[in-house]
Amino acid sequence: MVKKNACVFISGAGTNLKALLKSSREYNFPININYIISNTKQAKGLKLAKLYKIPFRVLDLNKTANLEFFFKELQKKKISLICLAGYMRILNKNFINRFNKKIINIHPSLLPKYKGLDTFRKVLKNNEKLTGCTVHYVNNRLDSGKIILKKKIFIESSDNEKTLKTKVQAKEYRAYSESIISIFR
Ligand code: GRF
Repeated sequence: MVKKNACVFISGAGTNLKALLKSSREYNFPININYIISNTKQAKGLKLAKLYKIPFRVLDLNKTANLEFFFKELQKKKISLICLAGYMRILNKNFINRFNKKIINIHPSLLPKYKGLDTFRKVLKNNEKLTGCTVHYVNNRLDSGKIILKKKIFIESSDNEKTLKTKVQAKEYRAYSESIISIFR
């Protein structure tokens, strides 16, 4: 299989990045991860870039000079997919139009419910019985692009933000890889 080249954007722990790196090692997974971007050097996920020997950059993409550099790199590396994995910045319309290829994101709720931050707290506060995660295309409105895949979990009365996060993230790791397979099928 000829794999597509992908770039993953992170800001934090990078557990979704880890799951994607593992999937990408499988011969029939449709992408390789060739580039990792973080907006902060504090992102723990950058350790994975080093471990897996994937080129990475800490870049503030709000700066025009960085943006020019970044788009040149994307061309050189023939990147045809950007995966946001816990990336805490919003990509603006110009960025999305300029890339002109697929950009996808994973979000810890069943969209369109609970866009934005603090999903676990909001879900518990509203006594929801179900929550989960959603993989979607990125457009210029927050967590609003076309949905690719959702996975559900049931909320138990004993759940708190921490247990929910663990349960939802376990679903995320599979959801993200399955979505990428479905995109390139
Ligand atoms: C995930 O829960 C994802 O849904 C959200 O940010 C979190 C990132 O976690 N967008 P990690 O950095 O992949 O561990």
